[in-house]
Amino acid sequence: MALLRVLIAGCGNIAGTFDLRRPANELPYTHAGAFSRDGRFSLAACVEPDKERRKAFMDAWGISTGFSSIDAAADSGLQFDVISICSPTTCHAHDLGIALRLKPKLIFCEKPVTTSLAEAERLVAECRKADILLAVNYTRRWDTDISKLQADMQAGKWGQLRSVVGCYNKGILNNGSHMLDLLHLLVGRMEIIKVGQPILDCLPSDPTIPAWMEGHQGVPVYLACGHAGDYAIFELQLVFSHGVITMEDGGLFWRERRAVESDTFKGYRTLDAGIRRAGKYSSAMCGAVDNIYRSITRGDTLASTGETALAAQCVCERIKQQALAS
Ligand SMILES: NC(=O)c1ccc[n+]([C@@H]2O[C@H](COP(=O)([O-])OP(=O)(O)OC[C@H]3O[C@@H](n4cnc5c(N)ncnc54)[C@H](O)[C@@H]3O)[C@@H](O)[C@H]2O)c1
Repeated sequence: MALLRVLIAGCGNIAGTFDLRRPANELPYTHAGAFSRDGRFSLAACVEPDKERRKAFMDAWGISTGFSSIDAAADSGLQFDVISICSPTTCHAHDLGIALRLKPKLIFCEKPVTTSLAEAERLVAECRKADILLAVNYTRRWDTDISKLQADMQAGKWGQLRSVVGCYNKGILNNGSHMLDLLHLLVGRMEIIKVGQPILDCLPSDPTIPAWMEGHQGVPVYLACGHAGDYAIFELQLVFSHGVITMEDGGLFWRERRAVESDTFKGYRTLDAGIRRAGKYSSAMCGAVDNIYRSITRGDTLASTGETALAAQCVCERIKQQALAS
């Protein structure tokens, strides 16, 4: 079968640069890295307004055609099966609109879809109307540790879920949407009980906001915050009746502790020291492009779609509105 032709719009970190600063044999964290490694795609062209960055990206990834804007790519008459939107979030609405005109089979859009919920809703609806698949890079939806945890939770392996704490920074929409998407996957729909004081730790338009929510049967879910000026944090702790699971360092590590009889205090149950193990997050981008390939060629269901992304963005918007109103 012919290779699927990819256009990458925006040639920065998530497009490929993160991987260029890492050993070539490591699993990829970027679009160019994952498509190249997969072998069923060809990097046909890229878009980057910065001329030097565009040339460096084309040289590094062996891309023969480069454009200064996605409009120029659309005017070229070239056709693409997949378009990756890796431009700054403020450019996504425009770039997605032009990508639609190019009629690819699938658009792989970086998160969040756009800065505005209304625009994101419109563009997701347009993709659906045009019959163009839309995958949004909420990467943990392709992390097999997460899908196993989801299956274990559904099978009751950890017992009853008692509470959840997700800690993030760098903006409720920018990174908080990753956390809310993950919480939707693991906990389901949540009701917002109270939101706290916004913290301006990155973009003025996108504060980091703490919140208290409730999931199914009133399970408390806390959105806790760090400050992006200190260090990046993206961690999740789930307290179950049989033990505690903690996702550390964005999923690069996991800690599992189980409830046991206490050696020290007879008759009490406590948590054991547990284990800290490496996670499978590093395989998630490969999982994403595999899912993309199969969704295009066999009609497989995408793990992360415009609709799932909108659900997360909708909660971000409600948290932000409540924070600004109080
Ligand atoms: N899924 C993740 O975990 C993850 C991680 C990092 C970034 N992101 C998302 O990826 C997007 C890009 O982030 P980044 O960190 O790679 O940014 P970046 O600044 O490293 O790269 C963006 C590139 O796009 C170029 N650009 C500017 N305007 C453009 C336009 N109109 N069309 C095409 N290219 C344009 C810039 O010159 C720059 O080279 C953001 O939406 C961000 O939220 C997602």
